[in-house]
Amino acid sequence: MNQVVVDALHKQLAEAGKLTFAEFMATALYHPTAGYYNRAEMTIGEGGDFYTSPMVHPIFGACIARQVHQFWVALGKPSPFLVLEMGAGVGQLAVDLLQTVREANQEFWAALTYGIVEQGAQLRERQRERLEARDLLKKVNWYDSLDEVPGAGELVGVVLTNELFDALPVHRLGKSGDGYVEYYVAADGERFVEAEGPLSDPALVELVDEATRAQFADGERFAVCPAAVDVIRAMGNLLLRGFVLTIDYGDLAPDVHFQHKRADGVRGFYYQKLTEPLERPGEQDLTADVDFSLLVRSGESVGLTEVGFTTQMNLLGGNGILQKAHELRNKRFDLMADAEMHRMLTLFLPQSLGDVFKVLIQAKGIQTAGLAERLNALRFKLEE
Ligand SMILES: C[S@@+](CC[C@H](N)C(=O)[O-])C[C@H]1O[C@@H](n2cnc3c(N)ncnc32)[C@H](O)[C@@H]1O
Repeated sequence: MNQVVVDALHKQLAEAGKLTFAEFMATALYHPTAGYYNRAEMTIGEGGDFYTSPMVHPIFGACIARQVHQFWVALGKPSPFLVLEMGAGVGQLAVDLLQTVREANQEFWAALTYGIVEQGAQLRERQRERLEARDLLKKVNWYDSLDEVPGAGELVGVVLTNELFDALPVHRLGKSGDGYVEYYVAADGERFVEAEGPLSDPALVELVDEATRAQFADGERFAVCPAAVDVIRAMGNLLLRGFVLTIDYGDLAPDVHFQHKRADGVRGFYYQKLTEPLERPGEQDLTADVDFSLLVRSGESVGLTEVGFTTQMNLLGGNGILQKAHELRNKRFDLMADAEMHRMLTLFLPQSLGDVFKVLIQAKGIQTAGLAERLNALRFKLEE
């Protein structure tokens, strides 16, 4: 049991009576010293609760580097050019992206500056260690939040995330008769249990678009993420010219809200197994499918225009993963090469991660007409 988190939640409950699921999730994941992402023991990668794409194979970061390079070219090769990664986990994507650029393109390397926005002190330390081991420390600046990034409104570059939005706190709601209810967290002795009540804020339901709401049947459950609105708006406000690249679980509305029969797409993960979200707070991961339509709509209010929505398969396919796999095929009888090929294809194939992860590209301050046809991630087609 994660006693610090459990005690913190009981204290919050003693004061408030009940917590929104978003409040529960915020403490369970982000309690400053003991939350799932902020405790001393690590959870991502080897022996943890989940692998993220950067941990599967460095080709992931290499392909993102190529896509980011294309963004840079599309913007007219500006210098300095900021790549700002929010929620960098253990820093593997930063390492692989930066190494790829350093090896491949000196002009781009000279223009590039890298920023990491990371809420957790433990994780920031892990990121530093990983980058230092590759002599990349000098290239990176750290910020605790988007508000701290200097030069807001003037920045030229790319803001990118992998599995950030699915880790932001969500409210759990349901359709009930003509109205809506919220599913809170309450205490039953030591246990945490669900408790139904009126909406904590009536505006929450407006985070689901009207057409989708009209399709909700009585008893339908869904999750909404006001934090995602704040984050995408803050990202848009940072940029003068540039792109926002979002890679995550989820889908567009209405599909994202109907993916799980009468459930809301909120999941717990404990050692790579699906679990009940209210169990083991602080010891298990909590995630929720991302409503990409909400990111598109909210982005528009700060000048971000959707350029395209696609899959991880197309992002990686358009940025060279198959050429790399082809090189490995020439070493077919080498067992190490086989294992490596398998990991690369896990990222790419539709029946693996290739389709599960979706990719949204938004742009600001650049002519978007005709842009989608030129971008690698949006042009790729898997040949039959
Ligand atoms: C699921 S992990 C993904 C990590 C990494 N991107 C990867 O793919 O391995 C979510 C990351 O987002 C960070 N995070 C969550 N909320 C954040 C916030 N509001 N500001 C900065 N980082 C945040 C977490 O600390 C963690 O590093």
